[in-house]
Amino acid sequence: MTEEQAFDHHSAEHAADPVCAYRAIRQGPGTVRTDAHGGFTVLARYDDIAAAASAHADFSSAFELPGDEGYGGGITLPRNPDSGRTSLAEMDPPEWRRYRRMLNPIFTPAAVARFSPRIQAITDETIDRFITKGSCDLVLDLVSPIPAIVTLEVLGLDTSEWERFAVPLHTSVHVPRDPRTSAWQELQDGFQWIFQQIREEIARRRAEPKDGDLLAAIMSADDPEGPLDDALVFETAYTIVAAGVETTTSLLSSALWHLDRYPEDRQRLLDDPSLIDAACEEFLRYYTPEQAGARTVAQRAEAGGESFERGERVLLAWSSANRDESQFPAPDRFVLDRKPNRHMSFGYGIHRCLGSHLARQEIKIVLAEVLRRMPDYSIDRDAAQLYPDLGLMYGYQQMPATFTPGRRSGR
Ligand code: HEM
Repeated sequence: MTEEQAFDHHSAEHAADPVCAYRAIRQGPGTVRTDAHGGFTVLARYDDIAAAASAHADFSSAFELPGDEGYGGGITLPRNPDSGRTSLAEMDPPEWRRYRRMLNPIFTPAAVARFSPRIQAITDETIDRFITKGSCDLVLDLVSPIPAIVTLEVLGLDTSEWERFAVPLHTSVHVPRDPRTSAWQELQDGFQWIFQQIREEIARRRAEPKDGDLLAAIMSADDPEGPLDDALVFETAYTIVAAGVETTTSLLSSALWHLDRYPEDRQRLLDDPSLIDAACEEFLRYYTPEQAGARTVAQRAEAGGESFERGERVLLAWSSANRDESQFPAPDRFVLDRKPNRHMSFGYGIHRCLGSHLARQEIKIVLAEVLRRMPDYSIDRDAAQLYPDLGLMYGYQQMPATFTPGRRSGR
């Protein structure tokens, strides 16, 4: 029998110590069942999460199970009241395969390496905006703009109003999910603006085709099932915006916080920059940005020693898998050069993150440039603010810092 608990990953209690909350489940019953958000079961152990994520015919990512249209499925728990489907992330095979096949070539390590010079230039220009001042907000001025501008540029959207894309995407992960509040209404207005920008760009390109970016590739995909209509192009483009912006910002904010809090790790990276690859993986493991993802049981299935019936909801706690002592020796220690490091921060199974190579590229370039140009940065830790809701995403909202002023790069 599954243990019943009053678990709620979106509660203030959970946000006070999510690591401890998941550890109690992982080292205790392994799974718990809660009534929160319509009821769901948490899987907290690495092997159980891997098994469920691999059994995608049983544990569906679909926004709506076939035959149950209108039912609240998908990969967030609860499903946002007004959001639509997140393209391939909320599709099952065979539909999912069509999109993954279309997008994979654009996100291979070799293809992503070609974005490197632009990521470098965007990083240089962003740091140039505050480097002479000796102070900045590391979230608002640095790690929020860079992933937003990179994602918009990769897609081929106008980057000049990146902030109007970034703010709703960051806010949506922690604003109280109450459609009656003005904060929620403001958020919906922000999303409507984003949707409009993407739709207008698609319409412009139907009138005057363009080439050489991700939106062009999506619009002209040479797919055996034919081209995507405008609604599906929109859904796919929006998914890239939603997936590419928030996660990378959150991870970078945690990494910068860590290097401030643990100067010995900062010094190791300054002394030996070749450690950046391993450090990037350990930041991903230890500060898991996407804390957990949901599935819907599509047919009678088992996981974690429990039986599930069609329609039940399950939470796969990636962040708990990343602290599982059966996988990671001393899991609660941050080990800069940890190897092996088979973390689940990019998910597991067929839906494993499409943008992982791009994200890693951004993370490494930004961290290397911060260490090179502002190696003595110091965060005002009392003013640094974590998201108040850590149920979906772990990251910081703001992080004021000071450093020895430097010179502009001259870009
Ligand atoms: C540190 C940064 C990132 C993290 C931690 C992250 C995390 C994840 C996770 C956990 C999943 C699996 C979701 C699930 O199985 O339910 C996922 C899927 C996905 N990610 Fe990322 N992501 C990051 C960056 C990016 C970027 C930069 C892009 C694209 C520009 C991207 C695009 C996607 C897409 C399209 C999927 C769905 C793939 C599929 O369903 O086949 N992600 N990501």
